[in-house]
Amino acid sequence: MRCCDLNEGPMKRIRYVSHFSSPMGGQEIDEIVKISERNNPSREVTGILVVAGQVCFQLLEGPSAEVTALYKKIECDPRHDRVLMLSVEEGDFERLCPDWAMARLDLAQSSSAHLAPVRSLLEVVFAQREILDGAVQALEEFTWQGLMDAQMDAAGQDV
Ligand SMILES: Cc1cc2nc3c(=O)[nH]c(=O)nc-3n(C[C@H](O)[C@H](O)[C@H](O)COP(=O)(O)O)c2cc1C
Repeated sequence: MRCCDLNEGPMKRIRYVSHFSSPMGGQEIDEIVKISERNNPSREVTGILVVAGQVCFQLLEGPSAEVTALYKKIECDPRHDRVLMLSVEEGDFERLCPDWAMARLDLAQSSSAHLAPVRSLLEVVFAQREILDGAVQALEEFTWQGLMDAQMDAAGQDV
């Protein structure tokens, strides 16, 4: 059964990148894909998992509540860390991958020339996302400090 044939309510699509906590071999990736293929169909979740060495990209889509619950679970999985959300879409949209409980693309096991840029792109996306996270943190800290200074100045002028 194609998941898009199901009678669906509000949909959610999440994209994230993460970093495996320890080197992942084909067997460990197989294990994740097996769990996904077992769990995702009953939750009407579909998606893709791209693995490039230590970095991975996953797209999850399906009923909003199911995707939210699954993402929360995946986020806490000790097999990976630095789970960085790239995008969230919500609404009434068509699935990008209606036929895959979890399609797997392991770049270590593929020799397709078309896939050559995928690893570099994935690494660039991951690095950019980490830089952005650091910048947002610094932005918040400077803003916080600026607000505190402004309050101190205002309090000083009142005296
Ligand atoms: C990168 C990554 C992707 C995962 N993707 C899925 C997924 O699509 N579906 C899923 O059920 N579990 C996925 N998991 C596994 C979950 O984190 C969790 O171990 C699993 O859902 C637990 O299943 P259980 O409650 O049936 O034991 C993923 C784990 C990792 C590290």
